[in-house]
Amino acid sequence: MDLLLLLLVVLLAACCPAHGAWDGCGGSCGLRPMGFRYSKSRVVGGTDALPGAWPWVVSIEAPLEGGTAHICGGSLISPQWVLTSAQCFIEARYITALRVVAGATHLTQLGPEAQVRSIKRMLVHQHYSSVTQRNDIALLELDRPVQCNSYVQLACVPDASLRVSELTACYISGWGARTARAGGSAYVLQEAQVRLIDTRVCNSSGWYRGAIHSHNICAGYPQGGIDTCQGDSGGPLVCQDKSADYFWLVGVTSWGMGCARARKPGVYTSTQHFYDWILAQTGLRPAVTTTARPQPAFTSTPAQRPRPTPTAAGRLTPCPSPAQKLRDLLTRLPEFVRFLRGEKV
Ligand code: ARG
Repeated sequence: MDLLLLLLVVLLAACCPAHGAWDGCGGSCGLRPMGFRYSKSRVVGGTDALPGAWPWVVSIEAPLEGGTAHICGGSLISPQWVLTSAQCFIEARYITALRVVAGATHLTQLGPEAQVRSIKRMLVHQHYSSVTQRNDIALLELDRPVQCNSYVQLACVPDASLRVSELTACYISGWGARTARAGGSAYVLQEAQVRLIDTRVCNSSGWYRGAIHSHNICAGYPQGGIDTCQGDSGGPLVCQDKSADYFWLVGVTSWGMGCARARKPGVYTSTQHFYDWILAQTGLRPAVTTTARPQPAFTSTPAQRPRPTPTAAGRLTPCPSPAQKLRDLLTRLPEFVRFLRGEKV
């Protein structure tokens, strides 16, 4: 039996490569360990976010006169992958010069919680169009994984089963411009609550008149006033799950006509629409296989339908969790014992 135990330990250690090794995020996503009551604040004309308020948001920075300048936002979807927008990188030829800052709120005074990484690989969507902003999505692979803690967490990417339009508690965050005219970027992360706006309304006359694609989400207010703005691109549009205390990354900040104008809300790239693209590009795997998905039998009783949880539908994992690995191994143990006894397996 000792031999078995030893084998178990060796297998546990070996079946996950160090590169994508389990990281201490505990198999969760969308959580805000610092715990906040939501205030109604805004990005344009905004209010400062508290440290750890949006633990998946990162600042993508470029070198500038001896220092660095914030160019775009992004969201951690795994310890080594950041989801962001394609438009941030049309001129970025030197990805090695860029850096990604996680765990920060105040960009000019990075606290001890900040984790700075370089970019190993940049994957811009192959059909991104800078004219129409179609497929405005990109992935950055970090040089090494971030460590999850109270200030650094992963966002949950929803697959097709989440009914995004039913989510009501949605928030934007970023270091972008605080007024449409002033430009520049905020030093302190700004946050705001927004509403998802029906695509038909968003595409109607007086609004965006057909410029919104099926893979976009509009969010903001019909009367304007609260919106993302220049420098917020790539950052998260998140919505709280309907029945639990975690957040879905539903959109990536993409574009808008001006900022915070009436009937010209922010336009976001739908992450749900690009779920398969993200999986294919990163090689990440959903934490739970499709066989564990809600059965059709449940759909007639929506209230009881098992919901996607941070550890199910939307969680992308570079590696099975230790618990999952142990479960897999234990189920195969009898087979292994029979093998040791020389029986047929
Ligand atoms: N493309 C912009 C950027 O460079 C983001 C614009 C968002 N605009 C808006 N009105 N919501 O950061």
